Amino acid sequence: MINSRKGRCPGWIPGLAVMLVILLLGPAPATAEYGDVVINNYSDQAGMRPAIFPHWFHRIRFRCKVCHADLGFQFKAGGNDITMLKIIDGEFCGACHNGDIAWSVENCNLCHSGKPNTSTQVHQSTLQKLLAPAKPKAKE
Ligand code: HEC
Ligand code: HEC
Ligand code: HEC
Repeated sequence: MINSRKGRCPGWIPGLAVMLVILLLGPAPATAEYGDVVINNYSDQAGMRPAIFPHWFHRIRFRCKVCHADLGFQFKAGGNDITMLKIIDGEFCGACHNGDIAWSVENCNLCHSGKPNTSTQVHQSTLQKLLAPAKPKAKE
């Protein structure tokens, strides 16, 4: 099931309302929250900010099986050898982030939104600050 943002009706539960506000404030990078996975096997070395994978955001939209069986994602933070070539080829994140199921790879900052030097990990605290400070129209 793929979420549509069209049906914005009153009566959202507060959590969802907050999420929606965050989404509407875009193009700011996704907010790091509990359960987000920071993936940084290569990013720092390549001069990119670490990738942040918002697990809950995806889990409420797709079954585990879609990613962990069909797309072959290992159940381990950093446990997949993900490169941009593979993503552009339609593997891993690229199976959906292709401008069809979800926005495409040109949106570098939406995925590479982590604070530089944050190691690969599952984000376990809402107090931890994993995101780079917001700066208007970052040039990358
Ligand atoms: C849909 C999410 C997503 C988008 C959009 C995205 N990336 Fe990535 N990228 C990743 C993930 C996940 C990794 C693996 C991170 C790691 O292990 O460090 C990665 C890795 C990389 C790497 C290191 C590995 C390699 O392939 O060299 C570079 C450099 C990179 N991305 C650049 C970019 C640039 C430039 C853009 C925009 C044109 C971009 N990325 C857009 C998710 C994304
Ligand atoms: C949209 C794709 C997607 C869906 C759907 C998804 N996952 Fe994941 N999952 C990932 C990715 C990506 C990672 C991080 C892998 C990495 O760092 O290379 C991950 C990591 C994990 C991990 C290891 C990190 C942690 O949090 O401990 C577990 C466990 C996990 N997933 C369980 C699940 C379960 C259970 C479901 C269904 C309720 C699910 N996943 C649904 C993509 C997905
Ligand atoms: C099974 C399909 C699927 C896979 C695989 C997938 N995504 Fe997504 N992702 C989506 C959809 C659908 C959205 C919502 C797009 C929209 O709102 O237009 C999304 C949204 C996002 C967002 C924005 C979340 C927000 O709060 O708006 C980020 C960041 C993201 N994905 C990163 C990743 C990264 C990194 C990977 C690979 C590790 C990945 N995604 C793999 C389907 C997927």
